[in-house]
Parts: sequence; C-alpha cells; structure tokens
Amino acid sequence: MTTDAKFWDRAAAKYALSPIKDQDAYEHTLAETRRHLSSGDRVLEIGCGTGATALLLAPCVATLIASDISGNMIEIARDKTSAQHVTNVEFVQAVPVDPKLGTQPYDAVLGFNILHLLDDLSGDLKVLRDRLKPGGLLISKTPCLADWSYRFVARAAIPIMQFFGRAPYVSFLSGDEVEAKITAAGFEIVTADNHNSFSRFIVARKI
Ligand SMILES: C[S@@+](CC[C@H](N)C(=O)[O-])C[C@H]1O[C@@H](n2cnc3c(N)ncnc32)[C@H](O)[C@@H]1O
Repeated sequence: MTTDAKFWDRAAAKYALSPIKDQDAYEHTLAETRRHLSSGDRVLEIGCGTGATALLLAPCVATLIASDISGNMIEIARDKTSAQHVTNVEFVQAVPVDPKLGTQPYDAVLGFNILHLLDDLSGDLKVLRDRLKPGGLLISKTPCLADWSYRFVARAAIPIMQFFGRAPYVSFLSGDEVEAKITAAGFEIVTADNHNSFSRFIVARKI
C-alpha cells in the first residue's frame, strides 16, 4: 500500500462526515457535469472518495465505475450504495492505471478534486485518454494551488505536513498549467471555467 493510500484511509471516516464547503459551487459543478452526460453513457470516476458525487450522478448515466486508491473510502461508498438501493454504480479500489478498471472504453471519465493529487499527472492523463472512446470526455474540477491567494503559506506549510504524514502529495499547478497538461495528453478543451476562486472546471474531448 502506498503512503498516500494510508493517508486517505486514515482520512476516510472524517471525510465522509465533512460538509461540502461551498454548496453553490458544488451544485454548479454537478449541473455542468450532467449537461455533458447521457443516459446511455458508461462512465469512469477516479478519486471518487466516499461516493457522494457518483451516487448523485448515477441516475443520468447507464453505468458508473467509481474508483479510489483508498479501501476505506470505497468501503464507505459501498455502504451508502446499498443503503440508497443504487444499482448502476460499482465501487472499485484502484488508481487510474489499474488493470481492474478494464479494457472496455468509457464515454466519459470524471475526476473531481483529484488531478492535483496525482504525482504523475501527465502519465495518468494519457492512460485515461486511452480508457475513453474516440470523442469521449474528461470532466474534471481541480483545486489549482498556484492560483490560490494563500499559495505562499501553502507552499511553506504543506512540505512540513507531508514530512509528518499529515498531508498527501499535492501539485502546485495553475489552472492554465492543468489545461496545458490535458491538451498535451491528447485532448481538446471543450470548456474551462473557475467554479470557485481557485478550482478550475475543465471538460476536454479525446482527439
Ligand atoms: C480530496 S478527495 C476528493 C473525493 C471526491 N472526488 C470529492 O470531490 O469529494 C481525493 C480522493 O482521491 C483519492 N486519491 C488520492 N490519490 C489517488 C490516486 N493516486 N489514485 C486514485 N485515487 C486517489 C483519495 O483517496 C480521496 O478519496
């Protein structure tokens, strides 16, 4: 198990109970995401956490495979799925490159609050592109720490927190840099827009 998997396993129970910080921004992201999904779609989510977003989006697609590096996050997500009697979502403990995510191509890949946590973002984006059908969509929202007003504090504090195991890997990319990496991986940007002061919502199409 990686250090980050252990970090997220420890965080899972608290994460499941923490309220959404900006409900309006979250609703806006859900609405924009739904606009790009169709009822026949087969969808993959990466970094799904405890499954809250997957369970809200499940009614607009045919099937959703929701994945996360943390077994504890996945366990909580599975419990919620049974409690809510949702039948078209499958939760899988996996990182984006994991063969468990299958070889059948997806119509869309979703990644909310996850791209900044991938230590090989360029490599993972190429793998995610390969997991999509031609013209398939990558739909993401990413905290871009280089655009954050507290970036200087974060740059000083996060390495210390990481040293003590209190923070996972995080990148300090700007929204423009995230878009550039997505484009370089073989996508064209369909839409890109800030959903709060430093989170960039990006929809990109496989080319
Ligand atoms: C900030 S949480 C976001 C969860 C959810 N997408 C949301 O928006 O609430 C990040 C999630 O990504 C997962 N994660 C971190 N690194 C990962 C990786 N390399 N591959 C897959 N999942 C990862 C963590 O376990 C955690 O559940």
